[in-house]
Amino acid sequence: MSKLRVGVIGTGKRKPRGDQFGYAMAYQHADAYQKLDTCELVACADIVEENAKAFAENYGFTATYTDYKEMLANEHLDVVSICTWMHLHEEMVLETCKAGVKAIHCEKPMAYTWGGSKRIAQAAQEAGVQLTFNHQRRYGAPFVIAKQLVEAGEIGELFRMECECGNIYDSGTHFIDMFSFFNGETPAKWVIAQIDYRRENLVFGAHCENQQVLLTEYQNGVFGLVMTGAGEARPVGCVDRILGSEGVIDVGFGHGPTDAIRWRKFGDAEWRWPDTGGEGIHGPGFIDRAVADVIDCLLTGRVCQLDARNALIATEIIFGAYESSRRRGRVDFPLDIDDNPLVAMVESGDLRPTKAW
Ligand SMILES: NC(=O)c1ccc[n+]([C@@H]2O[C@H](COP(=O)([O-])OP(=O)(O)OC[C@H]3O[C@@H](n4cnc5c(N)ncnc54)[C@H](O)[C@@H]3O)[C@@H](O)[C@H]2O)c1
Repeated sequence: MSKLRVGVIGTGKRKPRGDQFGYAMAYQHADAYQKLDTCELVACADIVEENAKAFAENYGFTATYTDYKEMLANEHLDVVSICTWMHLHEEMVLETCKAGVKAIHCEKPMAYTWGGSKRIAQAAQEAGVQLTFNHQRRYGAPFVIAKQLVEAGEIGELFRMECECGNIYDSGTHFIDMFSFFNGETPAKWVIAQIDYRRENLVFGAHCENQQVLLTEYQNGVFGLVMTGAGEARPVGCVDRILGSEGVIDVGFGHGPTDAIRWRKFGDAEWRWPDTGGEGIHGPGFIDRAVADVIDCLLTGRVCQLDARNALIATEIIFGAYESSRRRGRVDFPLDIDDNPLVAMVESGDLRPTKAW
């Protein structure tokens, strides 16, 4: 069988340590494709020519473009990774769907608006394109072990999931996606949330709140509680806390591999610390396994857990939370808006964050 031809949009520029202005996630996608016998990296596009050239040189191919549409028209790609900032995802996914590719693996969050997120999911479905999002925690040992404990009934009946993170949109998409992962991909019924946005906070170019509290109820009666932006204060005390009728699981109690997960049944004197095989909450190996699964699903026809339909469950809660803050009330689903309410509130002057500079 000939290898799948893989192209990348938005290579980034590799630097020693990523930040909110650039992680060069494309290199992590490409490293993962390179490990697969079934894939061949053949082309990339970046509006900064030197970024594209450096990327191509790193992976040993020559086809570089500054216009991604030209790449799509010329390169007969089977698989495209989209690694640009989120305000570009909608346009790029829609264009790539039209180009006859088989699969798109796009970076998170899905898109800049709720309407855009739904449009790309629908366009991919109509075009028969496998569309996945890089919520790579689904492949991390601490998270997988937690899910297995929940599903084995070790903490009784799942009751509430809690998490703390920087903001609900950029980092929160990983955390709220984890709620879906632990809770059997169940959609939510409603969300109620309040945000504080007093200082401008642009993450990969996107407005993200400074602080927020969110409660959502899923269709199976499980609750999700999200607290963002508290800094060192740690309102949950770990990255994810999963509460059941008979016990509790803490994921990311610390950041290393030895304190990545602990759990106990109520009444136990001691915590139990499962062996994660050397994995912490950030890796290693999560993205390699995510990309390998994306390709395996493409080749076998199995539905990938990173599929757009799963990503929409978390995305509805995220935009629903901003909408709840705009309406000053609970928002019942399905979410009936098109925009990004946080951005809309900034543009209308309802929110006036002071500039960071
Ligand atoms: N999965 C994760 O854990 C994780 C971590 C960090 C970032 N991200 C996400 O990855 C995405 C990309 O972030 P990054 O930090 O890798 O970005 P980056 O800034 O490192 O790279 C983006 C590249 O896109 C290029 N670009 C911009 N407009 C373009 C266009 N029209 N055509 C082609 N290229 C264009 C830029 O020149 C830049 O080189 C974001 O959505 C971010 O949220 C995900």
